[in-house]
Amino acid sequence: MKALLPTGDPAKLVAFGEVEQPRPGPGQALVKVEAFSVNRGEVFRLHGGLPGVGLRPGKDVAGLVVQAAADGSGPRAGQRVVGHPPGGGWAQYAAVDTDRLAVLPDSVSAVTAAALPLAGLTALRLLRTAGAMGGRSLLVTGASGGVGHYVTELAVAAGAEVTAVSATPERGRRLAEFGAAVVHDVAAAGGPFDTVMESVGGDTTARALALLRPRGELVWFGQASRQPAALDFFAFFEGPSSATIRHFHYEDFPESYAADLAALVRLVAGGRLHPEIGRLAGWDDTAAVLADLHDRRVAGNAVLTTGA
Ligand SMILES: NC(=O)c1ccc[n+]([C@@H]2O[C@H](COP(=O)([O-])OP(=O)(O)OC[C@H]3O[C@@H](n4cnc5c(N)ncnc54)[C@H](OP(=O)(O)O)[C@@H]3O)[C@@H](O)[C@H]2O)c1
Repeated sequence: MKALLPTGDPAKLVAFGEVEQPRPGPGQALVKVEAFSVNRGEVFRLHGGLPGVGLRPGKDVAGLVVQAAADGSGPRAGQRVVGHPPGGGWAQYAAVDTDRLAVLPDSVSAVTAAALPLAGLTALRLLRTAGAMGGRSLLVTGASGGVGHYVTELAVAAGAEVTAVSATPERGRRLAEFGAAVVHDVAAAGGPFDTVMESVGGDTTARALALLRPRGELVWFGQASRQPAALDFFAFFEGPSSATIRHFHYEDFPESYAADLAALVRLVAGGRLHPEIGRLAGWDDTAAVLADLHDRRVAGNAVLTTGA
């Protein structure tokens, strides 16, 4: 079958290759992939050096179950699904653990569903980490990306007053429609905030932290700039005294991916979550879309279709 494989060339991170169709394990369904999305973390991994032997990118897929799991778990053949395999999703077929799959209702297309897994799971779990949002003030940095759009819409719906940082008004257009106050620099964000969700790194981390109220919490979930943060102990006394900085990893949760994917699908089907698909293309264009994502030319999620 056809699959996208790492090239090791930063100018064209992936290219089509022929690989063996996966043979599903007992607890895996075989999914014919119709659409997948690409994420910044995957771009970083592909940039990370030589193509890892056996590295098969692709964590977010949507498509049709063509073979149900042999152990009887999960969806039946013929059901449409969204899935979050640990890799191998940028291909015609993917074998996916049934506890990483959720069934799609007719109203949710494969394109919409493919935008959900990594970014949506992260947003859902960020909100779970931050706790009750009703009446709380929340600052989201790097908000124009995939995670930022989901977290903003869900936090506003939960009653938070959300301030979102995007590079330009255009990149923040949907965030404003979701009800966030959109600013284009942390310095313009105001505050103090009860919670900050920070994923940019570099000097943004310290600048966002400075806007926390005393004993507030910064949920630290990424470093999109790839620049580490530098923090000054003494600066905390000027505002975020006794603040908490909480490292966040979306994989480190007790809930199953299947349950949280099903929750995301329900939110979309119920009109309460609107994936922002800033780029939709055929999978021939994946390398170009990865470059656009890397260079901040995609707002929300980028989805590629296989034509299946
Ligand atoms: N901890 C976890 O478990 C976890 C899970 C998923 C994702 N992540 C991380 O969370 C972050 C957001 O993920 P995502 O999928 O939403 O990524 P994304 O779609 O690429 O969004 C990242 C956003 O960061 C902003 N940004 C600001 N300064 C940047 C810079 N110097 N370089 C690149 N981007 C910059 C960009 O917005 P503007 O151009 O508008 O400023 C961009 O839209 C990423 O760093 C990702 O690696 C972490």
